[in-house]
Amino acid sequence: MSDTVAMDSIDPCDLRDCCGSFATGVTVITTRTPDGDHGMTASSFMSVSLDPPLISISLDRRTKMLGEVRKSGRYAVNILSQDMCPHAMHFAGKPDETLTDLFLEQHGLPILRDTAAVIVADVVQQVEAGDHVLLLGRVRHLDRDPTAEPLLYHAGQFGSLATQSA
Ligand SMILES: Cc1cc2nc3c(=O)[nH]c(=O)nc-3n(C[C@H](O)[C@H](O)[C@H](O)COP(=O)(O)O)c2cc1C
Repeated sequence: MSDTVAMDSIDPCDLRDCCGSFATGVTVITTRTPDGDHGMTASSFMSVSLDPPLISISLDRRTKMLGEVRKSGRYAVNILSQDMCPHAMHFAGKPDETLTDLFLEQHGLPILRDTAAVIVADVVQQVEAGDHVLLLGRVRHLDRDPTAEPLLYHAGQFGSLATQSA
């Protein structure tokens, strides 16, 4: 390892960079309240339990999404497919006006079109965790496109799966 950081003085930027070595997929979390619909890019999605079916997301306390999900009590995890990098940026505070007609409605929530998969969950537990809040969700609905390739995120960059030759 080239960069070693002492355990008793963890710099937040070092921690972010180190965690960035862990490649993830990319999701857009969506929810609906009486005030309207909201979407936000998140890579913190995690599968937690199969029986009962539980998932979690981790939201920064400063996000609008945290307040919206707390109001609605439910969220959808829209798992992006490899050509949806513009969507990831759009829902991460970099609005792209060329993106239109993004949603359809399912199960009373806005659901992104053409994703790799979608998971709809009810919030069953909130865990205060430093500057983030973990929102544990009980899965209520599932849908997926088994042919879709995922959008990946690693070290601050978007990518896609490399095809391995036989
Ligand atoms: C690839 C990627 C992954 C992200 N993952 C998360 C995440 O898991 N949790 C989080 O709170 N913010 C995450 N963000 C940052 C939010 O998308 C960003 O702060 C957003 O503008 C917050 O929107 P809101 O305040 O309108 O809800 C991520 C951003 C990107 C580009």
